[in-house]
Amino acid sequence: MLKFNNEFTVKNLGEEVLFKGWVDRVRDLGGICFIDLRDQSGIIQIVVDPKNSYYKLANSLNNEDVIEVVGKIVKRENPNFKIKNGDIEVELDNMKLLCKAKELPFSLKNTTAFEDTRLKYRYLDLRRAEMQKNLKIRQQIINVIRNYLNDWQFMEVETPILTKSTPEGARDYLVPSRVHPHSFYALPQSPQIFKQLLMVGGIERYYQIARCFRDEDLRADRQPEFTQLDLEMSFVDQTDVIELVEGLFKQLFKDILKIEIEENFDQMTYQEAIDKYGTDKPDLRFNLEIKDLTAILKDNKVFNFSEKELINCLVINQDISRKKQTELIEYVQKYQLQNLYFLKFKNQEFIGSLANKLTDHEKKEIIKKINLSQEQTIIIGKEKKATVKKALGALRIKLAKEFDLIEPGFRPLWVIDFPLFEYDEESKKYKAAHHPFTAPLEATEEYLENPKDCLAKAYDFVINGYEIGGGSIRINDPYLQAAMFKVLGLSKKEIDEKFGFLIKAFDYGVPPHGGIAFGLERIVMLFAGTDNIKDVIAFPKTASAHCLMTDAPNKIDEKQLKELKLKSVK
Ligand code: AMO
Repeated sequence: MLKFNNEFTVKNLGEEVLFKGWVDRVRDLGGICFIDLRDQSGIIQIVVDPKNSYYKLANSLNNEDVIEVVGKIVKRENPNFKIKNGDIEVELDNMKLLCKAKELPFSLKNTTAFEDTRLKYRYLDLRRAEMQKNLKIRQQIINVIRNYLNDWQFMEVETPILTKSTPEGARDYLVPSRVHPHSFYALPQSPQIFKQLLMVGGIERYYQIARCFRDEDLRADRQPEFTQLDLEMSFVDQTDVIELVEGLFKQLFKDILKIEIEENFDQMTYQEAIDKYGTDKPDLRFNLEIKDLTAILKDNKVFNFSEKELINCLVINQDISRKKQTELIEYVQKYQLQNLYFLKFKNQEFIGSLANKLTDHEKKEIIKKINLSQEQTIIIGKEKKATVKKALGALRIKLAKEFDLIEPGFRPLWVIDFPLFEYDEESKKYKAAHHPFTAPLEATEEYLENPKDCLAKAYDFVINGYEIGGGSIRINDPYLQAAMFKVLGLSKKEIDEKFGFLIKAFDYGVPPHGGIAFGLERIVMLFAGTDNIKDVIAFPKTASAHCLMTDAPNKIDEKQLKELKLKSVK
């Protein structure tokens, strides 16, 4: 088999070698022609002497032509230490043009091409070093995962793609069945139910690099089709899952980024995360905690405070210009926060119009509460609890980016003790916050009668503000499961239809079990240093779930529709 460019070093000096690849660029310097020949492994320099009969052909080559060359490996006069084998080059003996390339729709050296163009010609975009690097990191991550879990005696098992709806809360992608007219398969939103059935099946440690499909609003870290590292274990509790995952991520950090982490990862309850950071996925690379001033300021008329509201603040060690203040007020309005106030503190004094309206006692209490010392601005929000937390949480991130507060590095965090249920105002029903098989925290089991206080044995794994993974310990007690379904308002018929096969399986001896799933792309994004999920997927879709290269989804012809007993309705 042909060797890659990067397999040759000074050890091969004098050898006559065959290379094949793409012309990365051609330069003619002082009558000598240099070709940068690129393959998957990188670049090697080919030198063509004017006396060589291929000199003319060499000079006529265009970028991205595919060629083969034979030449002798020699030491390079001016080594290029930026590339791996920049201390050698190849003196051309003969060459052949294997395939001519048309002019490309965008330059591979210049990444300013519109994303749409890059997606339309994704096969060209993939030739860029940046994309190849990202795919390589993706592969390295998968390798580390497989080695680590295989050492723990996990079994890698595949689960069906054509299946039944899974309870992850997004819309399903459906596939019509030809053999069973009017019936549809659902593509899995995750392998959740199957992995629990594997536990019943005696596969005590399961994992899968699993494709998942969710029809939901797309964002920079969400694709309709994505990959999970999915795992499940029997006879474990939350601490076992956490221990296993910490070991895995320490290994990933060490092997891929050469970062050694000794200590355990931080843990924080859901409530603390919301209170201090306004989100269940806080970025801990910077401080900027949300502080509660409600008790101090609620009686001050300026705030026109009513019960159910909170007065919270962020404190930034900076003056904030009028112009910036207006921008921040507009920003939080997107999050329905209508009341944002700015209070300046300088030389041990509060300054500005709001300061004049505070009593001495209030000022003293504020200083005590937030340890004011140098020049600072207190940004105060007042609104309903959920709104103020969410808006200040978003503002916290914006301020950190704009005022350059984010420390480099990685801050892994477990968020634990999630609520078991969420109340859906529209349907006036409780929904499972994670999914209906999640076990309640023992201490709160009795609250199933009072669902809003019930907490879950559920955990999310967060790094730098990204939800990287989430999982839970599952219910394996039929009575508890029945109580859970009761809170969710599911009738016996609905339970049978949706999860009957799982409930039935649970009659035959089911081990206590639990697990977690990670968004593989989100791990790769972090390790590759990108905040765009498309950068780590070979063939991604646009925000409207469109593949610009193949033009999927596309209309299908009448014949196919007929076979499926489907009719297209305008
Ligand atoms: P969950 O729904 O939290 O849990 O998903 C697990 C992880 O998958 C990633 N993820 C996504 N990544 C890219 N695009 C998407 N559309 C997308 N949706 C989710 C996130 C998320 O943390 N079955 C449960 C896991 C379990 O309980 O074991 C599940 O799927 O990183």
